[in-house]
Amino acid sequence: MKTIITYGTFDLFHVGHVRLLRRLKKLGDRLVVGLSTDEFNKVKGKEVIIPYADRYEILMACQYVDDVFPEDNWQQKRDDIIREKADIFAIGDDWAGKFDDLEDIVNVLYLPRTQNVSTTELKTVLRKIDQDKIDEVKNVASHLTELVSKL
Ligand code: CTP
Repeated sequence: MKTIITYGTFDLFHVGHVRLLRRLKKLGDRLVVGLSTDEFNKVKGKEVIIPYADRYEILMACQYVDDVFPEDNWQQKRDDIIREKADIFAIGDDWAGKFDDLEDIVNVLYLPRTQNVSTTELKTVLRKIDQDKIDEVKNVASHLTELVSKL
């Protein structure tokens, strides 16, 4: 039984996440995910849109994921790797070199990210839709004001 361990937020679950999880699962038999809690995301400087319980449910429903546990601090990785009997620690290459210190207990791999998709980008699109709607409402309001002033 070869176990792979990874970490992440997986907010607004997207195709980049699916592809990463698929590649991770192919590295062994069992894939476990340390899912960053909402509080820990704040420590990381991220505000999540989807709460932990829902992100947990989504990940658990993914056919490549065997188990999910909470990640709530930077120091827990060693204990998790030992508890889960992980053989490989793998994560996207936006973290390249960051976890090399774990090499003494686990094989550390950085996989290439899927290009042109990220939670950050999706949040930007959502904010733009929001702003477009606000602009539209302001426009209608100003037309109405103009009409009323002519009555
Ligand atoms: N990931 C990936 N390809 C992408 C986006 C993410 O392979 N296009 C990987 C990351 O490298 C990480 C995992 O998916 O190993 C979880 O990443 P996460 O930070 O939750 O997602 P991002 O979309 O990168 O979120 P953000 O934009 O907030 O950093």
